[in-house]
Amino acid sequence: MVAVVFGARGNVGRHVADGLLAAGEQVRATSRTPDVAGLPSQMKVVAADLERPETLPAALEGADKVFLYAKPDGVEGFVEAAGSAGVRHVVLLSSAAVVVPGAEQNPIARQHQAVEAAIERSGIDWTFIRPGMFATNTLWWWQRSIRAESVVRTPYPDAQTAPVHEKDMAALAVTALTESGHRQRAYTVYGPESLTLRRQVEHIGDAIGRNVRLEVISVEEARAEMGRTMPAIGVETFLRQWAARNGTPAQVSATVEEITGHPAQTFAQWARDHADDFRS
Ligand SMILES: NC(=O)c1ccc[n+]([C@@H]2O[C@H](COP(=O)([O-])OP(=O)(O)OC[C@H]3O[C@@H](n4cnc5c(N)ncnc54)[C@H](OP(=O)(O)O)[C@@H]3O)[C@@H](O)[C@H]2O)c1
Repeated sequence: MVAVVFGARGNVGRHVADGLLAAGEQVRATSRTPDVAGLPSQMKVVAADLERPETLPAALEGADKVFLYAKPDGVEGFVEAAGSAGVRHVVLLSSAAVVVPGAEQNPIARQHQAVEAAIERSGIDWTFIRPGMFATNTLWWWQRSIRAESVVRTPYPDAQTAPVHEKDMAALAVTALTESGHRQRAYTVYGPESLTLRRQVEHIGDAIGRNVRLEVISVEEARAEMGRTMPAIGVETFLRQWAARNGTPAQVSATVEEITGHPAQTFAQWARDHADDFRS
């Protein structure tokens, strides 16, 4: 039996693929560009694009379980191909946005809800991993300015978030795919500690052995700066979340430890794991 990991080069997908291999599973990795190097040689890599359903039957042939990223465009084609291939269990990387009040008004929540609903309707067993703020978002926001100028510019240095390590999301997915008792379950997962952005910057500075300055800028300036590295929908989402949590503790969770039996990784550990990403 084969476990198919979509997006096996992604932040989360790569650790899911590694975790399944370590658990003795036969892993088939997908990519839209399978010829690009970077995946372990034990994995067969196949071409698949979730937004081009005609690419999916070959990728899913003989598979019984799947790790999936949430792509609403083409999801009906995915569930049809998965059903035809005999897939029994899909673990979806969804989002905590779907359980936050006001989800109906949030386009990111609606995208993830659409994928969850399509999988539920399919009759295939499912597990939904619903993470909050990824620790990797700090690469998006701050990698460029830390590398180039040892500075972080933000309008909300005292906003609090509870970042989740991508290895913890992957550990949840691997547990769900390899152990019993996780089907038809949804796991909302926040990080283990609420930290101000200021404290997160200090952890990154400690990890790279450099003093990283923090400069307070206006919301308009932040919008322009963030717009250089991320789409507008992401910029507005983060600005809204920071404004709402300015000086307010973020929700934390013990989901990782409850489900995997291992404590969740701290942001300080995440920063050490990614120190090279922030060094120039
Ligand atoms: N950032 C957050 O705070 C946050 C919070 C909650 C939930 N999420 C969810 O987590 C996701 C991001 O996870 P991540 O950081 O691991 O992502 P990532 O590093 O950007 O990786 C995404 C992977 O998906 C694959 N992919 C992209 N489009 C595809 C398509 N059309 N068909 C098949 N594969 C495709 C890519 O593989 P190839 O390029 O090799 O094809 C890539 O490896 C978001 O999209 C969202 O759904 C994020």
